[in-house]
Amino acid sequence: MTRRSIIAGTGSALPKRVVTNHELAQTVDTSDEWIVERSGIRQRHMAGEGETTSTLAIEAARKALTAAGIDGSQIGLIVLATTTPDQTFPATATIVQDAIGSNGGIAFDVAAVCSGFLYALGVADSMLRAGMAQRALVIGAETMTRLLDWEDRATCVLFGDGAGAVVLETREVAEDGPGILTTHLHADGAHNELLYVDGGPSTTQSVGHLRMKGREVFRHAVVNLADVLGNVLKECDLSPADVDWVVPHQANQRILDATAKKLGLPPEKVVVTVDRHANTSAASVPLALDCAVQDGRIKRGDLLVLEAMGGGFTWGASLIRF
Ligand code: UT7
Repeated sequence: MTRRSIIAGTGSALPKRVVTNHELAQTVDTSDEWIVERSGIRQRHMAGEGETTSTLAIEAARKALTAAGIDGSQIGLIVLATTTPDQTFPATATIVQDAIGSNGGIAFDVAAVCSGFLYALGVADSMLRAGMAQRALVIGAETMTRLLDWEDRATCVLFGDGAGAVVLETREVAEDGPGILTTHLHADGAHNELLYVDGGPSTTQSVGHLRMKGREVFRHAVVNLADVLGNVLKECDLSPADVDWVVPHQANQRILDATAKKLGLPPEKVVVTVDRHANTSAASVPLALDCAVQDGRIKRGDLLVLEAMGGGFTWGASLIRF
């Protein structure tokens, strides 16, 4: 027997408003053709009035609690990954904590941009197995569209808003039982200038806009993701053939294809939502996970590999028996 963090439930939330590429092309010098060909994105959800990172996070969290059959008072730890908090402080996790009624436990945000959910999952899993709580909510929530420069067509067409959440619960399970088997996390600060926001409280005292050298990020993403995916499988003596579903960060269809090809993973094992949601940064992995759980593709016992890469650079992967 071994002690593991099990995914007891998943949930997600999207803003009401859907913006298609055609609609964007009315105000941005772009086209549906260019966006679909270069990224696979067809539409994105965009937060409107009254919709914030915390409102999306709370909705996703409530759904994950319902799916797990528990209520907020049973959650001892909330780790929320975001680059777009409601406020510089307090942590958005504390707003969620109050809304779901788990006051008194641990709640904090992590910032690892698009890899944020993987970082949050790794941190929550370690804290649960260390006995600091018995159940955790791990959330990725973003309103990335509020960081965009609508004059910069190379970035503003690529992002969307949303949230995803999972309830983790520690249990003693058999070696071949469910739970998080391993998580590998990495960062390399040498590449900060390829993907960053040109503002912040300590520099410009403003929020700033997202800046990206897309082509360079693309190149690093494929190499780093294939490496980290290979390494989590190797650690657990598993091969790509053992994987039932890859749940990747949804930045670009071409990155998904290239990474799967590099590892010899058939494309039909890759959960794709980038066409509908665009890049929702830290929210994209838990959103994709919940979509595939809801539509019945991901079933109990399936072997999942979650992966992401983003600003920092940060990247990581987690191998999970669902
Ligand atoms: O989530 C964090 C990680 N982020 C990523 O993984 C993003 C990785 N990068 C990418 O997904 C791709 O590099 C992009 C989708 C961002 C761009 O695709 P690309 O094939 O690398 O295009 P590019 O940036 O090299 O631009 C090609 C051309 C340029 O024109 P010229 O210089 O060749 O005449 C751009 O000006 O496309 C032009 N362009 C556009 N045209 C129409 C750039 N943005 C647009 C646009 N509409 N929105």
